[in-house]
Amino acid sequence: NDEFVQVASLANLPQGRCAAVAVADREILLCHTADGVFALDNLCTHGAARLCEGKLKGNRVLCPLHGAAFDVRDGSALSRPAVRGLASYRVKVTGDAIAIAVT
Ligand code: FES
Repeated sequence: NDEFVQVASLANLPQGRCAAVAVADREILLCHTADGVFALDNLCTHGAARLCEGKLKGNRVLCPLHGAAFDVRDGSALSRPAVRGLASYRVKVTGDAIAIAVT
């Protein structure tokens, strides 16, 4: 059984923006692109950097520390130095509410 938890509202996450939210002891990155809203782990797989402090460019988020790029749609690592992808979570948008499934 999937449990969706409301974590943010569209009003606070306009297209082109990303933000970190804390859910179930995890820190999750929400990204709103032209393709929708996506949720990923906020911690870079290469080092101790929080991706919410990086840049969102289209469907890619760039790590603020060494510039690795991840595809926000599935978490895959697109460029070195990161080689491992980010865990991604399912997102459900209902009206203004953004909910994610963390289990
Ligand atoms: Fe993210 Fe190095 S910590 S690329």
